[in-house]
Amino acid sequence: MSSLPKPNILIVEDDAQMLRECREIVASLDVEITTAGDAQEASHRAMEADFAVILLGVRMPERDGVAAARLIRQCERSRHTPIIFLSGTYDDAVSSFRGYEAGGVDYLLKPLVPEILRSKISVFIDLYRYNAELSREIAERKVVEQNLRESEERLREFAAHIQAVREEERTSMAREIHDELGQALTGLKMDLSWLEKRLPKGLEKQTEKVKSMFRLIDDTIQSVRKISSELRPQVLDDVGLTGTLRWQAREFQARTGIRCKVDLPEEEFGIDQNRSTAVFRIFQEVMTNVARHAKATKVDIKLRRDADHLILNIADNGRGIAQADLRSQKSLGLVGIRERALILGGQVEIEGIDGKGTSVTLSIPFRLQGRA
Ligand SMILES: Nc1ncnc2c1ncn2[C@@H]1O[C@H](COP(=O)(O)OP(=O)(O)OP(=O)(O)O)[C@@H](O)[C@H]1O
Ligand SMILES: [Mg+2]
Repeated sequence: MSSLPKPNILIVEDDAQMLRECREIVASLDVEITTAGDAQEASHRAMEADFAVILLGVRMPERDGVAAARLIRQCERSRHTPIIFLSGTYDDAVSSFRGYEAGGVDYLLKPLVPEILRSKISVFIDLYRYNAELSREIAERKVVEQNLRESEERLREFAAHIQAVREEERTSMAREIHDELGQALTGLKMDLSWLEKRLPKGLEKQTEKVKSMFRLIDDTIQSVRKISSELRPQVLDDVGLTGTLRWQAREFQARTGIRCKVDLPEEEFGIDQNRSTAVFRIFQEVMTNVARHAKATKVDIKLRRDADHLILNIADNGRGIAQADLRSQKSLGLVGIRERALILGGQVEIEGIDGKGTSVTLSIPFRLQGRA
């Protein structure tokens, strides 16, 4: 509180004697005093500074105090500043009631009783200090909020960058494993065929050995394909997102025995690589969760589009994800899902119904809104 400037009081009075009296009464309060002799001057002062309260003599030379109050109220800075009318007579007091409709908040009859005037002013000063403190706190909080928002934004950009780098690495690793190892294994297989053809008849043990080597090479080729497609499925580039999801669902069903019902559009969406990779990774995480946690027998996978969003819904009929899991900071898989969606300006809704299943809905705009 001590860092706040002294509250300012405006006294508007054309009578010099009255003005002096007011000053003396107010002097003992810890305030700055500004004076004005008429309505015009008062409205200028009100434009220049903020006042805790304005004391307004009701009888003024050109306009009466009520008109002065209206003029003061027109000024943005003093629109809500409390005004105390100082009325000379009872008639003025009646007219000062009109002051209430002009936005006045109180009136006092002259002659002024110092204690009463001081106590009224004190109330408004306390209120002013309280408001000023509150405004300062709000301003501070806004700065903190803004900093937080910026830092969150930076973190998100950083996360996006890391994701992108990771995907690039995975893509190039997948390609290398696929190409280098794949070619070497194919070469090995061709050499082995060459050898097999030249094996003299009757060498059963050797023929059997060659056969088992073929099997081993074929298994290794399968493993290489699996590893490289797990790193980054080539199909994502070859057949697009819907084709990949269809293929993944088939694989999932074969591997886990959980029935997959897919409802995907025939045509591809034509979304960029970032988006298709993110949707695919989210799909992988959700499906892995179904296999690991849901105890489901069936999964429904639906992909559709509205005007500007891609919407993927994956619903299982398992035990239903618990609220605690949804809220837990430790659910890093779920955190990753949400972050991936947020990076692309999208969102994820996850719902679990106890004993009925879990539904994950991902919605991603085709284009980032509000950004270049
Ligand atoms: N489909 C689901 N059905 C029931 N429970 C689920 C489902 N998906 C997730 N959960 C619950 O939510 C928790 C958090 O999931 P999350 O993917 O974040 O972590 P995780 O799968 O345990 O580990 P990680 O994904 O990091 O390997 C899981 O441990 C599980 O208890
Ligand atoms: Mg998980």
